[in-house]
Amino acid sequence: MAQILQKQIYIILTIFLFSFLTEGESKQFATSLSQKSLHLKKEKLTHIHLYWHDVTGGDHPTKVTVVKALDNTTNTYFGSVSVLDDALTVDPGVKSKIVGRAQGMHVASSQENFSIVMALSFEFTGGEYNGSSLSLLGRNQVVYPKNEIPIVGGSGVFRFSSGYAIMQTYKFIPNLYGILEMDFYVLHY
Ligand SMILES: *[C@@H]1O[C@H](CO)[C@@H](O)[C@H](O)[C@H]1NC(C)=O
Ligand SMILES: *[C@@H]1O[C@H](CO)[C@@H](O)[C@H](O)[C@H]1NC(C)=O
Ligand SMILES: *[C@@H]1O[C@H](CO)[C@@H](O)[C@H](O)[C@H]1NC(C)=O
Repeated sequence: MAQILQKQIYIILTIFLFSFLTEGESKQFATSLSQKSLHLKKEKLTHIHLYWHDVTGGDHPTKVTVVKALDNTTNTYFGSVSVLDDALTVDPGVKSKIVGRAQGMHVASSQENFSIVMALSFEFTGGEYNGSSLSLLGRNQVVYPKNEIPIVGGSGVFRFSSGYAIMQTYKFIPNLYGILEMDFYVLHY
């Protein structure tokens, strides 16, 4: 009798444990959707041309170095971290209309040459892209006048986006000001 009871308890415990372990599987957390359900139409390619104002000196810098390079005897600045909130304009002039901001950070990440890895969000605050953003992540070999940074995503009208951005130095005044010319080539819906 006691043996049968023990066996029954065993079975009940096993069922209890099994249902506990499989509970996660029974709850569905991913479903497949049609592209139509998100109103995705044909993918399109958009070219955006902007100027990016990197103010590093003066009374109101828009980029600050928050971590200095550990070894200040090399010119790679390896380990230094900068945070920026830079204006984006349609024309290169400082007083030109602001249509967005480049916000994020970059890290000097090469021990051989001066190059930085950038993680940036380009937020649009005016025009037809107001409220939308593009996310850029990639290496910038600062010593070269022209660099290519991958576009890894976006929000708003730029959901599902991918592509690349070409950045070129338009004007540069050391320790004060840099204007970069940006050409984004974005695939989005
Ligand atoms: C480099 O760092 C050392 C130690 O922190 C400091 O004494 C020195 O002034 C720094 N040199 C430069 C050029 O910043
Ligand atoms: C550093 O720069 C030199 C000269 O431009 C180049 O030959 C070398 O490949 C660069 N190294 C890296 C790791 O990019
Ligand atoms: C951009 O969108 C915000 C929020 O919807 C709105 O307050 C603002 O007026 C818009 N700006 C322009 C220039 O359209």
